This record gives sequence, structure tokens and C-alpha cells, in this order.
Amino acid sequence: LESDKVEIFEVGPRDGLQNEKSVISTADKIALVDCLSRAGFKRIEVASFVSPKWVPQMADSAEVLAGITRAKGVSYAALTPNMRGFEGAVAARADEIAIFGSASEGFSKANINCTIAESLARFAPVAEAARAKGIPVRGYISCVVECPYDGPTAPEQVARVAAQLLAMGCYEISLGDTIGRATPEGIDTMLAEVLRVAGADQLAGHFHDTSGRALENVTVALERGLRVFDGAVGGLGGCPYAPGAAGNVATEALAAHVAALGYDTGLHEAVLLEAAQLARAMRGPKEDSNV
Ligand code: HMG
Ligand code: MG
Repeated sequence: LESDKVEIFEVGPRDGLQNEKSVISTADKIALVDCLSRAGFKRIEVASFVSPKWVPQMADSAEVLAGITRAKGVSYAALTPNMRGFEGAVAARADEIAIFGSASEGFSKANINCTIAESLARFAPVAEAARAKGIPVRGYISCVVECPYDGPTAPEQVARVAAQLLAMGCYEISLGDTIGRATPEGIDTMLAEVLRVAGADQLAGHFHDTSGRALENVTVALERGLRVFDGAVGGLGGCPYAPGAAGNVATEALAAHVAALGYDTGLHEAVLLEAAQLARAMRGPKEDSNV
């Protein structure tokens, strides 16, 4: 039986805000997360325990997690690149964590300063420590179709990394079109390969929207059986280590898109639009707005 439900994993407070150059106050971040909690999301990525030299905007992650009003049944997630990040996330009472790797060597080096193999070796103890504490672990794979440094990514390489993250115990793998330039054909070919090592119910689509094709990419992923998609309210974001990448697909557009295709997201539209407005107000002037 095909499920008629789609879950949107809201990543705006992390993937959206991490790329903003202007200083956003902790209070504004907390207000955004609290609004998102009221909008009906079950999972919200709110924090990132990474080096503040690499991503200064996320330096107040512990304060954000301490300040939010935790809604019942909502999982508040944090990125953790290594054991130090894991310990920070546990101390701040993150409900789940995410380890984040890449399918391309160029992006792995630029984003987390190590090879893919080194990153997996670094993630293993994090996943093991999380398992021991009963903390769910999500896995990200970046550059699943194209890398800003290495060009096209081989679908087999995405499947290889996915298999390794699943073997570590990740409950879900989020497949990132980090630079937002994937075509629906590219997504479809990649998914066909990854579905040889993972069930559709273990996969999520994480599409940035640089080329304006993210919603088409969602449609092909739905056809492949995926039912979880990451979005950022207001279409916030980009990745500081993926030059030229635009924001994530806007959650409100994603929700409207899947609703038009007959899927229920369980989100409250009016509150969602309120959150999108809050998010847009936090965004500084877009550097690439006239490109
Ligand atoms: P490194 O320089 O190779 O590692 O960075 P290091 O161990 O030598 O540490 C360097 C400094 O960072 C040291 O401080 C450490 O103490 C500190 P110093 O001695 O220079 O003062 N440090 C930390 N501080 C806080 N928390 C930590 C931590 N670890 C070390 N956990 C490292 C390696 C991974 C730390 C670095 O490269 C890093 O922080 N990278 C994060 C990059 C990032 O957050 N990128 C954005 C998120 S990924 C993304 O957006 C893609 C995604 O959305 C999916 C998609 O779209 O594809 C998920
Ligand atoms: Mg991203």
C-alpha cells in the first residue's frame, strides 16, 4: 500500500541560517524554531556542533537548544561532524544527531577537511556512542549528483557511501543535491542505484534550488517511493563550502507541491507562512540576487 503521507524535515534553522553572513541573534533563532514547532513539523534541525571558525553562525547552537520551547513529539536535531560535536549535542540535549559525509572527495575536503574514508572512520565512533545512548542518527550525503569541485558524481559512489552509513546504524540517509543543479534525470539515475542498497523508506531527498528544478526532483523521488524531503522555510540558505549554491527548496513551496499531488504533510499552512516570513526577515541582502 502506497502511503499518502509526506513528511517534510525542516532544516531552515540549520541549513538555512548557517550561510547567512550577518549576525542573527540567538533570540531570533529561538523564535523561528518555536514558530516551526507550532507549524506541526515532527523533526526540525536546529543546531550544528561544528568548528565556530568554519561556521560562525552556528556558534550559539547550545544556547538555541537551551532556549527553545520543546513541543511534545518533536525531534530537535543537530549536526555532529566528530566526537567533540557529539558531546556538545548530547550536553545540549539534542533529540537526534546527524553525521554528514559526501559522495565526492572535493566537497569532503572543502567541507570537513578530510577524505571520504577518513570521514567515515570519524563517524563510526559517533554512531556507536549515539547507539549506546539511544540517540537516533541520521546520515547526510552531499553532492549526490554533482560536486562544485569534482564535477558529476557517479551514482555507484553515492550507493557505496549510503551502504556504509546504513551499516553504521543511520536510520535514514538524506541525499543532498548540495549545489542545487541536479536535473530530474540525474536524480532518477542516482536513486535507481541507491535503491539497490537502501529501502525507499530509509531515504530522504535534500534538494537545493539553484536551477529552480527542486520540485521536479521531488516529483521523481516520489515516483521512486521516497516520502521524506528536507526543506527550509523561506528558501533560506546554501552551504558556505559549496560556492554558488542557492538555498534549500522552500518548505512552503514543497508543502504546496506535494499537497497538489495528493499527499498530506500534516502542516498548518498559516503557521508555516508565518515561519517563512520570519525566516525571510532574518535573511540579509542576497549577494547573488542579480545573477
Ligand atoms: P579541522 O580543522 O580539520 O579539525 O576541521 P581539527 O580537529 O584540527 O579542529 C580545528 C579547530 O576546530 C580546533 O580549534 C578544534 O578544537 C575545533 P582550534 O584549536 O583551531 O581553536 N573543533 C571544534 N569546535 C567545535 N565543535 C567541534 C569541533 N571540532 C573541532 N565539533 C571540522 C574539521 C569537521 C571540525 C571542520 O571542518 C568543520 O567544523 N566543518 C563543518 C563544516 C560545516 O558545518 N558545513 C556545513 C554543514 S554540511 C552542509 O551544509 C550540507 C548538508 O546540508 C547536505 C547538503 O546540502 O548536501 C548537510
Ligand atoms: Mg544542504
